[in-house]
Amino acid sequence: MATVQEKIEDLKARQEKIKLGGGQKRIDKHHAGGKLTARERVELLLDENTFVELDQFVTHRCVNFDMASVDAPGEGVVTGYGTINGKLVYVYAQDFTVVGGSLGEMHAAKIVKVQKLALKMGAPIIGMNDSGGARIQEAVDALGGYGKIFYNNTLASGVIPQISVIMGPCAGGAVYSPALTDFIYMVKKTSQMFITGPQVIKSVTGEEVTAETLGGAMTHNTTSGVAHFVAENDNDCIEQIRYLMSFLPSNNLDGSPVMACTDDINRMDESLNTLLPDNPNQPYNMKDIITSIADNGEFYEVQPYFAQNIITAFARFDGQSVGIIANQPSVMAGCLDVDASDKSARFIRFCDAFNIPLLNLVDVPGFLPGVSQEYGGIIRHGAKMLYAYSEATVPKITVITRKAYGGSYLAMCSQDLGADQVMAWPTSEIAVMGPAGAANIIFRGDPDVGAKTEKYIADFATPYKAAERGFVDQVIEPKETRPRIITALSMLASKREQRPQKKHGNIPL
Ligand code: HXC
Repeated sequence: MATVQEKIEDLKARQEKIKLGGGQKRIDKHHAGGKLTARERVELLLDENTFVELDQFVTHRCVNFDMASVDAPGEGVVTGYGTINGKLVYVYAQDFTVVGGSLGEMHAAKIVKVQKLALKMGAPIIGMNDSGGARIQEAVDALGGYGKIFYNNTLASGVIPQISVIMGPCAGGAVYSPALTDFIYMVKKTSQMFITGPQVIKSVTGEEVTAETLGGAMTHNTTSGVAHFVAENDNDCIEQIRYLMSFLPSNNLDGSPVMACTDDINRMDESLNTLLPDNPNQPYNMKDIITSIADNGEFYEVQPYFAQNIITAFARFDGQSVGIIANQPSVMAGCLDVDASDKSARFIRFCDAFNIPLLNLVDVPGFLPGVSQEYGGIIRHGAKMLYAYSEATVPKITVITRKAYGGSYLAMCSQDLGADQVMAWPTSEIAVMGPAGAANIIFRGDPDVGAKTEKYIADFATPYKAAERGFVDQVIEPKETRPRIITALSMLASKREQRPQKKHGNIPL
């Protein structure tokens, strides 16, 4: 009979074997491809020495296609919990060195277990994906595994932050769990996402495309909008995730995180008074305003490469995490289009679900005109913004810097869509449509059209008509923007808003 000491040694030997995953040869190949292993990723993500591994000894029970003889240490996925900046998080990291990180019944069961724990404990979950998709040998058991993960992703949506990290090829079912989560990170060169890969596409449609062009990090960060963040490599990616977590509460019952503020809350910035060009048709960079007003000029942009005509970002004001939605006049004049509507509506809903106040910086001439926009469903997509803002009960502060015309004025969270405080710079033009166009209609055929148009612009391309009706709460000097926002956030801290009971709304999807 083995002694106690021998049993302990046996445990250690078993653990060491599991820690080697698919073996040193496969680990070396993985490293040579510029990737960290699943365990290295987990260790780097979590605060030092906080990782507690669960289900190390779980194995598959598949006997099809000689699988009975296939040893899959850890079942191809490392799962457990630890802390990031001292806060509890759950993690799973697929191990590509073990059967290609493919997902079978028990691999899925390990993931589902941490999903359930995260939901029960109200802690974020971070999934690091590196997988060939459904383990083909396990057939419908693998599909069932995905189904359970999707189901739990959906239950957890809006309750705990869910972050997906794509750190290798993710094909087939491997892409849909990430798509159901809040944010997707992709690593340049080493990560791809697609439902059907290049070979299947070639056989079905005849199109020839490389995996990188089809579903690489930049494809999904610029063209499809599937991903939210891009990283240079695994290390950069993990550093970014830790930074993102600093802006997020642990769950939907926690408040927006507040950190010690090291910036002057009364700081004014004279340069804002001269930032806008005299000609309202000239662009400027809205990011200069964000840099000026946020704590220490710091913000973390979400989807920085997608729909650049609108900016979505996390920043802090007096240490409190805030979600910023801002038109970007230097891209497409800041017009709202299909992609900008989708990008911002989703961000608004994330912030609202997790009690993060919204700051809307407005300089928008309208929805982008065009046949392709109409055919692309700008009515349906633009409605998402109206819906998301109207539905949001977090503090909503709107600062209009320049143009706020027509439907896009409403879509950027006007008072009627529930903005708690609307501030306008004196350069604001809050109007039913562009003033030149409006004057053209009103004074069509009038011999005095030139002079009357000029007078119309002087009278109506201002914040004062809206302020006269109370649609604007404060007209402020640009330099005062930071302290005014901080004062408003402090005033709104106790905001309570009741809504009619319902099962759920029906956002135009
Ligand atoms: C079983 C798999 C696997 C899978 C990879 N492997 N994917 N085993 N099921 N889905 C195994 C390989 O056989 C290989 O085993 C090891 O993992 C490493 O894979 P390689 O092909 O050598 O690696 P690489 O050349 O880097 O290519 C990676 C890959 C490729 C691009 C991901 O493996 C691939 O195309 N796999 C199949 C992808 C796919 O079609 N998935 C869809 C599944 S269906 P050895 O023993 O040789 O090391 C699906 C539907 C679910 O997901 C839908 C739910 C909604």
